[in-house]
Amino acid sequence: MSGEIPTYDRAELEALQLRRLRDTLTRVHAHVPHYRQAFADAGVEPGDLTSLADLVRFPFTTKADLRENYPFGMFAVPREQVNRVHASSGTTGRPTVVGYTADDLDTWAELMARSIRAAGGRPGDVVHVAYGYGLFTGGLGAHYGAERLGCTVIPVSGGMTERQAQLIVDFRPRIIMVTPSYFLAILDELEAQGVDPKDTSLEIGIFGAEPWTDEMRRAVEARTNLRAVDIYGLSEVMGPGVSQESGETQDGLHIWEDHFLPEIVDPLTLQPVAEGDEGELVFTSLTKQAMPVIRYRTRDLTRLLPGTAYPTFRRMQKVTGRTDDMMIVRGVNVFPTQVEEQILAVEGLAPHYTCVLTRPGNLDELTVRVESLTDLAGPSSDHATRLGDALAERIKNRIGLTVRVEVLAPHSLERSTGKARRIDDRRAR
Ligand code: DLL
Repeated sequence: MSGEIPTYDRAELEALQLRRLRDTLTRVHAHVPHYRQAFADAGVEPGDLTSLADLVRFPFTTKADLRENYPFGMFAVPREQVNRVHASSGTTGRPTVVGYTADDLDTWAELMARSIRAAGGRPGDVVHVAYGYGLFTGGLGAHYGAERLGCTVIPVSGGMTERQAQLIVDFRPRIIMVTPSYFLAILDELEAQGVDPKDTSLEIGIFGAEPWTDEMRRAVEARTNLRAVDIYGLSEVMGPGVSQESGETQDGLHIWEDHFLPEIVDPLTLQPVAEGDEGELVFTSLTKQAMPVIRYRTRDLTRLLPGTAYPTFRRMQKVTGRTDDMMIVRGVNVFPTQVEEQILAVEGLAPHYTCVLTRPGNLDELTVRVESLTDLAGPSSDHATRLGDALAERIKNRIGLTVRVEVLAPHSLERSTGKARRIDDRRAR
């Protein structure tokens, strides 16, 4: 069976990590000019690492480093040994390119199989993959993991929502792998086709690639008969399957620490935070061949917690957001996930929303555009006003921020078929 979840004791795991870490440092130092230079600038050499704690002496790696070495400069093996590349477009500038040897692809499939298993999947399950296939790591990552586990994979990719709904009804998948925001669009489509999502075969949703809240989990579970579980990853570190929530405990994501070493640092001082505190997640890969990463700054905010379902592996809490997605509005820091929590607490609002930032005078303004669940007589109807006031008041009371709220008719906001764009920053334009 593949995708088995190993059980080391902690000392055994740390010994394995140390061995793999030293090997990784040696390889990048020998083969990647960027790391050789960065280590020299920091005055460290691979041999300086004698314990895991010594890793803090090594320099961070950022997205900018990857961009500067575009496209293949971060590879630690000859290009001929790179079996596949993926890339993430980002919002600006050059894409970030990542590469995989045949062994890397094998490890990735194994870790994705492990992740699906942790979510509750088992060999023989039918798996509907609605993550996008292509340069994005979601579709192919999920695909090969599900095959490795021994599942029947339906490689639908993102988009063509009507067909997604149809295939769910006809092929009877037990598992769906998709971004949570696109899953909401699929749910709406099922209902539009007269299908109650509770009557479908779906039992497990493996949702990731974007932040989503526990409130969203409850909302999705209330409309379906599935368990919604979180999956995390990023291209630079591998793709999906870096950490996975257990379908049993649904309490944050177990990090596959035999392959990835996590740290949490203060995003401003870059110093390690106290154990259990929130900060920026940093990863060092322990087994990657084609493109190892040393202390890669993910920009994702979370905290580390002890393991539960898989005690060997520490968990990370659900990601609050990316440091780049923190909106600072008149001195108040706010993430889209905090807005999402409040939207889902107002009965009558749908979980489709965007945060629009403007600067009409000298002061920033946040307008939350959100849909009503039911038809409105108009944007200024009594019902819309009541919903808008209720949300504005909650945001004022819970987040301490005065916002404008526009309540829109159902289906007014654009649906994304992959990652939702939650922030529309109109200040610079
Ligand atoms: O989104 C990999 C992935 C695909 C993960 C499918 C899960 C499922 P990138 O396109 O490189 O890779 O984007 C990585 O997405 O740094 C986070 O900011 C965000 N992200 C990914 N998973 C989660 C999650 C894929 N579960 C970036 N919760 C990461 C919150 C997530 N944010």
